[in-house]
Amino acid sequence: MSVTDRRGVAFSVGDDGSLEIYERALSAFNFYRGDPVAIIDEALEVAPNFVMGEIFRGYMFVSSWEESAVVEVNTGLARLDVLVDGANERERAHMAVLRDWSAGDWQGMRTRLDRILMECPRDLLALQIGHLADFFMGDRDNLRGRIARALPAWLEGEVGHGLALGMLAFGQEECGDYRRSEENAGRALNANATDCWARHALAHVMEMEGRQAEGAQFMEESAAHWAQEDNTFAFHNWWHTALFHLDQGDVAKSLKLYDSSIHPGSEEAQVTLLDSVSLLWRLHLGGEDVGARWQSVADCYEALGEAGFYAFNDMHAMMAYTAAGRRDAAEKHLAAVEKAAQKADANSEMERCVGLPVLRALAAFGRHDFAQCAEHLLPIRDRSHAFGGSHAQRDIIHRTLIEAALRSSDKALAETLSEERLMLKPKCSYSLSLKERANMI
Ligand SMILES: [Fe+2]
Repeated sequence: MSVTDRRGVAFSVGDDGSLEIYERALSAFNFYRGDPVAIIDEALEVAPNFVMGEIFRGYMFVSSWEESAVVEVNTGLARLDVLVDGANERERAHMAVLRDWSAGDWQGMRTRLDRILMECPRDLLALQIGHLADFFMGDRDNLRGRIARALPAWLEGEVGHGLALGMLAFGQEECGDYRRSEENAGRALNANATDCWARHALAHVMEMEGRQAEGAQFMEESAAHWAQEDNTFAFHNWWHTALFHLDQGDVAKSLKLYDSSIHPGSEEAQVTLLDSVSLLWRLHLGGEDVGARWQSVADCYEALGEAGFYAFNDMHAMMAYTAAGRRDAAEKHLAAVEKAAQKADANSEMERCVGLPVLRALAAFGRHDFAQCAEHLLPIRDRSHAFGGSHAQRDIIHRTLIEAALRSSDKALAETLSEERLMLKPKCSYSLSLKERANMI
């Protein structure tokens, strides 16, 4: 029997019980609380023919954007194949999206999600998955545009309206529209203070504008709203908080947050590992001794053994191997990525365009060949968005380039890049320290 969810989106299969569980699972995903897979499994156990439940489950694995998810997605697709005859057109389109992702056609996947949303802008699952896919592909225009196209379909006061405003705020931040981003993030937080993605958008604005002291205070004073025990995004918002402290020169505070909230155990998910690396590499560039932390992170990457699936993850794995002094692992990683880059999928293009030059630069950094490192990074620094992530995350490439210029005594490069940085973040003590070092060459 055809039904609709609370947003009027048509489902081919669903009764009151399975729809109620779907709503709980979707809310868990929307607000990054608990385990949406465990919740939707409750519905699938009772109703194995719940098509949208199975699609939702597949998307939860997609949202990790890591290779280990492919098996789960394909297993779900096999179950959906049996149900396809009863599925409606939108559900069939979702199945095709899952197939695209699994096959590495991430551009096709995103276009198909756009089509779904043009027909059904109130499909909140499609909206959030599309937003995340745009993030993983570094598509700042669609991070804003996809949400802007869907927003008119939502009414003020609806949960989806607030969530869409938070997503729009992140897209506007990535497009450099900081004032409107801040305004919309504020509206989203007024609607729901626990909207950790909207708060995250505001943290990004503060990061990009060099408002470190304000950023640290803003995040810490509101932690009760975004750092609940079951919040699966808190590690990333703590990462932003640690960056605010680090760029004010407080290494001890940033390491304390690393130990307590960013990499507290033997976490193996790529998305959390990369934040660990991203903070430690910033400390590494500053010559800080972080003890055994690099070895712990490198152990996690070696255990995962993933290379050539997603270029942005590959960069962080290379940083871990390099800083941990694991030259064999670094060489093996680079060779695996070079091989994968010969394929014809979306990631291969990202590797060829940005990933491989960055990996070669990091290998040179590890050999203390800083001039070579700078040679690899300078041509790609302004197109690095093509391998995904946010401006704040990719800042690690800019930092590495300036550090390589300083260490290779390339005065012209170090001076101009640090000058540029100082113009963008004039009050940031890190920017000032780079300029002072460049002047001394
Ligand atoms: Fe972020």
